[in-house]
Amino acid sequence: MNQVYEKLQNCLKSVREKTDFVPEVALILGSGLGEYAEEIEVAATIDYKDIEGFPVSTVAGHKGRFIFGYVNKVPVVIMQGRVHFYEGYPMTDVVLPTRLMGLLGAKTLFLTNACGGINKEFHAGDFMLIKDHIATSVPSPLLGENIDELGPRFPDMSDVYRRELRGLIKEAAKEEGIELQEGIYFQLSGPAYESPAEVQMCRILGADAVGMSTACEALAANHMGMKVCGISCITNMACGITDQPLSHAEVQETADRVAPLFKKLITASITKIAGK
Ligand code: 6GU
Repeated sequence: MNQVYEKLQNCLKSVREKTDFVPEVALILGSGLGEYAEEIEVAATIDYKDIEGFPVSTVAGHKGRFIFGYVNKVPVVIMQGRVHFYEGYPMTDVVLPTRLMGLLGAKTLFLTNACGGINKEFHAGDFMLIKDHIATSVPSPLLGENIDELGPRFPDMSDVYRRELRGLIKEAAKEEGIELQEGIYFQLSGPAYESPAEVQMCRILGADAVGMSTACEALAANHMGMKVCGISCITNMACGITDQPLSHAEVQETADRVAPLFKKLITASITKIAGK
C-alpha cells in the first residue's frame, strides 16, 4: 500500500478505536482562534498525541486536539490547532489531519486562519471569505504517487472554495450583521513574515491576504471531493502595507479581540451550510 495512505489508515483506525462519531462538517481553527471550540456541545475529544503517527503542532497558542461535537445540532469535528509546513513536516503530514477528517465522514471542510492583509481596503480585525488561493510557493500535498483511493491524479480546481458555500456564508454574515470581505489567499511557507518586497510580489500577483496555511489543506480536501470554504481573520496588515513591525503577539491580540464576532460568524455559517 502507498505509505502515505497506510499512515492515514492507521490514524483512522486509531481514532475509530476511540470514537464512532461521524461528523458532517470539519472545522480547522486558525492561530489564536482555537477558543471557538470551548463553547460547543462536546461529544468526545482526542489529543493528537494519542493518535499513532499523527503530526503534533509545536507552536505556542496552538492546542493539539480533535473535538467532536455539535454546533446547533450539526455534527462537527474541530481541529483545535493545526500542523504547519514551517514546523518541518512534509506536506503529506501537514494534510493528514484534513484527509483523516474526510475519511471520518466530513463532507465539508471549513478552514479558518489568521493572516496578514494585503488589500489596502482591509483593516486589522476584518474577516475575509476566501474566494481562491495561490499555493505556488509551497510544495503541493499531492506530489508523489497518486492515492487513487482518495481522488484523481489531476484534480479540477475551478471551484475549490465553493461558490455555493460562499453564498451561504455571505447570507449568514448579513443576518448576523457582520461585515465580510472577500479575496484571494496566498500561502507562503513562513515561518518568517514576508519582507515588504515579497508582500509587493503577492499583491502584484493578485493576492488580498498572506498566510502560512490553508491552501494546502484545501488542495487535499478538494482532491478527495470534499466541499471547501474558508474565512481568514486579518489580524494585521502585511509588511510594507503599513510601516508597523509585525509580531505574533499582535496576531494573538487581534484574534482575541474579534473572537466573539468570529464565533457568531462560524456558528451561523455552519448552521446554514448544514441546512439546519
Ligand atoms: Cl503578515 N504573513 C503571514 N505569512 N502570516 C501571517 C501574517 C503575515 N499575519 C498573520 N499571519
